[in-house]
Amino acid sequence: MTKVSPSILSADFARLGADCKEVLDAGADMIHFDVMDGHFVDNLSFGLPVLESLRKALPDAYFDVHLIITHPLTYVRDFADAGADCITFHIESSDNIRSTIAAIRACGCGAGLAINPNTPVETVFPYLGGLSLVLVMGVTPGHGGQAFQTSALDKLRALRAECGRRNLNPMLSVDGGVKASTTAPQCVEAGANVLVAGSAVFGAADRAAAVQAFRSL
Ligand code: DX5
Ligand code: ZN
Repeated sequence: MTKVSPSILSADFARLGADCKEVLDAGADMIHFDVMDGHFVDNLSFGLPVLESLRKALPDAYFDVHLIITHPLTYVRDFADAGADCITFHIESSDNIRSTIAAIRACGCGAGLAINPNTPVETVFPYLGGLSLVLVMGVTPGHGGQAFQTSALDKLRALRAECGRRNLNPMLSVDGGVKASTTAPQCVEAGANVLVAGSAVFGAADRAAAVQAFRSL
């Protein structure tokens, strides 16, 4: 079954706990938490105290933390302590990839590796064995509401095939420009089983229906 991970980048930050609860009650499988440092990308978002508060308010939620930052290794322990379930960082970031994956796993979290549209998919292959999740970016990260780049579909197909060859089963997630009626079915067909959606969930008039539309794919 396809899982949906609403990205709170498009939520109303004045009522963040209620927004998360609303989509979880509607059937969302996890909450996607985008951390931006104003360095790896130009934008800033939110960080540790926000996750700590959400974890307290939603003790049973699964938090899918996406670190869009230059030095993920520095923050692994802090995000694990703040309540992350899975910590995903970028293959384009500046820290040692294997050390960062090992640090995430040592904290008891699932390790995820994200890949930007312009990075060749094969760069992820050497790390697949230690990963719980691969996050294929459908947009250049930094902002919600951008148009999906179809290069993500080729990456998903290549990852699905490589995982099949090696009998590995990380979650294959796609993030950015994912819409239930257009790009999401293409992503599922290409091998994605987790759909990250920000504006398509939190911007919908009926958020519960939006969550269900993704889960039914
Ligand atoms: C992009 C973030 C995404 C973003 C997706 O920088 O990683 O998680 O919130 O937003 P939509 O779904 O609106 O493209
Ligand atoms: Zn994200």
